[in-house]
Formats: sequence, C-alpha cells, structure tokens
Amino acid sequence: MKREIAITQPDYLVEDWPGKYQVFSWLEYVITVPNPIFLVTTRKANGAPNANLSSWGLLLGEQGQYSSLLALLDNSHTYANILREGEWCVGFPAFETYPECFATIRHNAPDDDEITQAGFTLEAAQTVSAPRIAECSVSLECRLAWHRPLYESSPWHLFVGRITHLAMDEAAMAPDPVTRLQALELMYNVRSTVDPRTGAQFGPNSLGLLSRVEKIFPG
Ligand SMILES: Cc1cc2nc3c(=O)[nH]c(=O)nc-3n(C[C@H](O)[C@H](O)[C@H](O)COP(=O)(O)O)c2cc1C
Repeated sequence: MKREIAITQPDYLVEDWPGKYQVFSWLEYVITVPNPIFLVTTRKANGAPNANLSSWGLLLGEQGQYSSLLALLDNSHTYANILREGEWCVGFPAFETYPECFATIRHNAPDDDEITQAGFTLEAAQTVSAPRIAECSVSLECRLAWHRPLYESSPWHLFVGRITHLAMDEAAMAPDPVTRLQALELMYNVRSTVDPRTGAQFGPNSLGLLSRVEKIFPG
C-alpha cells in the first residue's frame, strides 16, 4: 500500500550524529535511491593532488557539451581548488578499491598527496592540470563552465564543467553491457535507512553494486 508522506521532518526523528539532518535532508534516508560513487581530483594551491570521495553528481549534456555536475560542500578543499583552478577530473572507482576511496578522506592535510597516500596511483591528465587516478577505469577531464549555490545560504554548491577528455581501460570497453559493467564494478552510496512512519533507523551507510543488467530490447 502506498502512503502519502509529508516532507516536514517529524519530531520523533533522532540524529545519530550532530547536524546530520541539516547537512542532509531526512528525505534522503527515507527514499534511499543510491547514487554512484566517484572521486573528484583537483590540484591544491601548492600543487599537491587532492581527492574528494563524492556521490552527489551526474554526467549529462548534449553533443559537444557533455558535462560533469558536482554538488560540493563549500568548506571542502575541492570547492576552493575548483574555484581557483577551474578544472577537475572525475574517476569511477571499482568496489574493490573502497578502502582506498575512504582513505582519501583521512589524508586531508594541505601537504598530503591524497591520491598516493590513500594507496592509489597518480596519473597525468591530457587536457587539464588536475591529476587522475590510474585505478579508476573511467576518467573524465573537466573544465568549469558555471557554478552557483544549491540555494541561497546553502552549504552545498553546484559546479558544472564540460568534459574535455576521456580515458578508459580497454576492459571497460567490452561491447556486451553485462561484461562491461562487471569490469567497471561501479559502487553505489546506499544511505542508512529511516522508516518515515516511526523514525526507526538502520545504520550505518552501505555500499552497493549493480546486481542485474538485462538486454531488454530484442535484436
Ligand atoms: C560515501 C560518501 C559520499 C560523499 N559524497 C560527497 C559529495 O557528493 N560531495 C561532497 O562535497 N562531499 C562528499 N563526501 C564527503 C567528502 O568525501 C569529504 O568531505 C572529503 O574529505 C572532502 O575532501 P576535500 O576537502 O579534499 O575536498 C562524501 C563522503 C562519503 C563517505
């Protein structure tokens, strides 16, 4: 049975960490539609490589304008790096590299090479100065087109950049979509869940993989 749910956050909802339902909407934990995880890589002011593990973003755009959209916290290093340099790379990591992905969050000091120190391998980009991550089987190079806050006084900021170059592992070029997605092993950010009727929570966050890809169009 489908229920109609008011979007006002109910009083019975308890944060399991302070500020959780300010930085994020409680609706995200009710709806639980997962986003793919990707790494945004930029250059710090001193030239050191920076990595930001992200899941709010997507790829979109028409001929000649294929673009990367990012939603970044305005206190992140990546936010400042993109405003300063106008460039970034996006890489899609395989599930098996989730420990390295999360290690990018721990190595966050100004002089850290966040890519190498997290256990990844640095790779030079072709069209931008921002570094790429060799282990990501799809890497996109992007140049900033526009940016704006998500809403007035929101800590979340949107960036859109045109894709200027693409690098892909040959294994990810398999014509069969099932084989291709197996090679990509894309990882999804699956939020901890909230039951909107009671506020009951099940945490922590999980990671997901695509479990079913079918060729539904005959011929
Ligand atoms: C699963 C997951 C998804 C995340 N998604 C985002 C995101 O979409 N945007 C963002 O700004 N931070 C996101 N974060 C937080 C950043 O990874 C984290 O703040 C990082 O340390 C910022 O790095 P920076 O300051 O070097 O940019 C996410 C963290 C996790 C664990």
